[in-house]
Amino acid sequence: MPLVLLFLAAVILACSSKKEDRPKLTPSASAIDASASATAGQQLLARFECHRCHAGTGLDEPAPEKQCVGCHRRILAGEMDSSSDSSEAWKRNLTSLPVAPDLAHVGKKLKRAWVADFLRRPHKVRPGLPASMPRLPLSDNEAALLSTVLIPAPSGDQRFSEAAAARGAELFASLNCGACHAFGSAPARPRNYAGGTTPAGDALMLAPDLALTRHRFQSGSLVAWLMNPQSLDPQTLMPNFALTESQAVSLAAFLWFSKEQRPVPALVERLPILERDVGWDEVFESVFKNVCWHCHSDAEFAMGDGGAGNTGGFGYGAKGFDVSSYEAIRSGAMGPDGRRRSVFANDENGVPLLLAVLLARRAEERGQHAEQIGMPLGFPSMSAEQIQLVESWIAQGHLR
Ligand code: HEC
Ligand code: HEC
Ligand code: HEC
Ligand code: HEC
Repeated sequence: MPLVLLFLAAVILACSSKKEDRPKLTPSASAIDASASATAGQQLLARFECHRCHAGTGLDEPAPEKQCVGCHRRILAGEMDSSSDSSEAWKRNLTSLPVAPDLAHVGKKLKRAWVADFLRRPHKVRPGLPASMPRLPLSDNEAALLSTVLIPAPSGDQRFSEAAAARGAELFASLNCGACHAFGSAPARPRNYAGGTTPAGDALMLAPDLALTRHRFQSGSLVAWLMNPQSLDPQTLMPNFALTESQAVSLAAFLWFSKEQRPVPALVERLPILERDVGWDEVFESVFKNVCWHCHSDAEFAMGDGGAGNTGGFGYGAKGFDVSSYEAIRSGAMGPDGRRRSVFANDENGVPLLLAVLLARRAEERGQHAEQIGMPLGFPSMSAEQIQLVESWIAQGHLR
């Protein structure tokens, strides 16, 4: 990333900042038959660079300039001492990926089958966190193997009684769980809070939509979690409400028998091609530099790492797509045959590739994962106006 170059000195200083004082993930031998598959799993975590965003993978921290979440947090916390005015602007612009869930304790929480499916077809879990888990080039087998490494010994099943759910609903309301948690059709209450890196801000970002809990949480640990979340994950920001077992069982039943669904974003109509002229500067400022550039930048400028979408990363090979200049974007991206192709040329559906990737991201957010990976990878889809701008720019002959 170009930023890497800009702050290398600062990053090296920041490098001495405290390491996460968290237990590493050590798969218990009893649960995975062969330690060979644990080793293979660690290799997958390294190959897909899960530790660039997540703590608790068991891998050593990557170099500071590779830490997506780590660098963002240091900037937001004001630990990256930039002498220029830009640091205030960076803080303002940095909204999407200030934090990511820690994977150290998912073994006691999440279901293997849910994780394996989620890794192949990620969807939004935390409405307060703009970034999502990115789609990675993982096979079904690799996703399944990762799920056993992350969850070596799932807890046994527990059944809940539907009769307890009504009392759980009352507790849910009186304990104000909705202050942090969205619940399907009910969004979390304090919407536009200032993000940042305070525990309160992180908790709001990290609180999952509880409509997903019955699909993803291990039934056998849900009551223990509700009674004392820190007993399963000492660092979790979920508060301990000191519930009695019977209260926790009621709440668990309420969540388990709920019919709430994860909200699906509305289908957004494509806006008509603009009649006024759209030039490179406008598209660059509003779309490419704003978001795409963080993974598709000039490799030479960024000391060889042009980002995951240019020189490769997160398990993706080099796509060679650089959006940092007009000339670079015109030189296209590597096609499946290993030869460069124009991103303005139509795909098999008659849609220019550059537009197709933006529409694919929209579809992914609605749960439709086509073969075409959506862009921006793992970040919120572009607005209708941004897509209109790109589409108009291409249709008008992608003028300089
Ligand atoms: C570019 C950053 C990034 C990378 C790389 C990444 N993740 Fe994630 N991952 C996220 C974010 C952000 C979330 C939270 C998404 C949400 O809650 O909506 C997430 C969520 C998850 C979850 C769900 C955890 C929970 O508590 O809900 C698992 C499991 C996971 N990632 C595993 C992995 C694995 C395994 C890899 C490597 C193969 C990986 N991630 C690579 C950003 C990343
Ligand atoms: C050396 C520090 C550093 C690293 C490493 C880093 N970023 Fe950033 N990132 C920044 C800064 C600074 C900004 C704000 C830039 C601005 O104001 O234009 C930013 C902004 C962004 C944005 C746009 C703003 C937003 O919040 O949506 C995205 C997307 C992004 N980064 C993704 C990533 C990803 C993905 C990685 C890991 C591959 C990464 N970054 C690694 C420093 C970093
Ligand atoms: C201060 C904010 C906050 C409040 C209030 C809160 N939670 Fe949480 N909760 C969290 C956070 C943060 C997590 C994610 C913890 C993690 O993964 O480490 C979480 C996780 C959970 C989970 C696991 C969900 C999943 O799918 O992984 C459940 C269940 C849960 N909370 C239930 C409740 C209930 C019930 C209440 C009310 C009694 C409540 N929470 C109140 C912050 C909060
Ligand atoms: C978090 C990193 C990331 C961000 C942000 C990102 N990309 Fe990508 N992009 C990638 C990766 C990785 C690939 C390679 C995917 C592959 O090999 O299938 C890629 C590939 C592409 C391709 C080639 C697709 C193909 O099938 O040939 C285009 C076009 C593209 N990105 C456009 C964009 C645009 C436009 C944006 C901003 C709206 C953007 N990307 C933001 C990581 C990113």
